[in-house]
Amino acid sequence: MNKKIIIAIDGHSSCGKSTVARQVAHALQYNYVDSGSMYRAVTLFALRNKLIINGLVDSNRLVEMLPLISISFKYNPEEQKSDTYLNGENVEKEIRGLEVSNNVSLVAVVKEVRQAMVKIQQEMGREKGIVMDGRDIGTVVYPQAELKIFMTTSPQIRAQRRYDELVGKGEAVSFDEILKNVEERDFIDQNREESPLRKASDAVVLDNGNMSRNEQLDWVLSKVNEILNDN
Ligand code: DC
Repeated sequence: MNKKIIIAIDGHSSCGKSTVARQVAHALQYNYVDSGSMYRAVTLFALRNKLIINGLVDSNRLVEMLPLISISFKYNPEEQKSDTYLNGENVEKEIRGLEVSNNVSLVAVVKEVRQAMVKIQQEMGREKGIVMDGRDIGTVVYPQAELKIFMTTSPQIRAQRRYDELVGKGEAVSFDEILKNVEERDFIDQNREESPLRKASDAVVLDNGNMSRNEQLDWVLSKVNEILNDN
């Protein structure tokens, strides 16, 4: 099978987009790009350069400094996934931490940051054979993607998964607080002015609330096959 397509996966936070995207990319031998990690890397840059103070981003300075930011990915064979690099430094761990997580939605609303990230993302998909997940992949980055998936499941299920994960790591957390955080993030993602989270009109919905990992992989692969067999 030589024809390669673009697979855009958008959806709410904590609904397992990256798990599905990684599974699908592995099965098809496609590249996988986690676009959220790029917004996280810019946020880390902004924090390190003191451009976020008391919940406010100095967006003028950040935009001025955008040309100084270089983001890349390198495959990590031990983890069997790509790590994110900021100006040549592996920042994969740091961008998943609480400080970046708590500030990333402030940076992701800056129009010029989005424009710069979208440009890089579009370049990455030039040769197709790519699975990218995020919030605006099917609507803004690749409106021409052959397969667009909009993933979702209820806030309660997503909060429960996140709760189980954190409790598993030995963290003392409250379910109600996590649920509140999930709902707040949905609100921010859906209501921001720049590229809000929306289902593209031609996206197919994947609600994985009651699906195993294998079931969701099979579901996506069957959609891919339909597209490849149609052409
Ligand atoms: O998927 P994630 O939680 O790593 O995303 C981090 C943040 O970046 C989150 O606030 C949503 C935002 N984001 C975005 O605005 N557009 C994307 N394409 C991907 C992520």
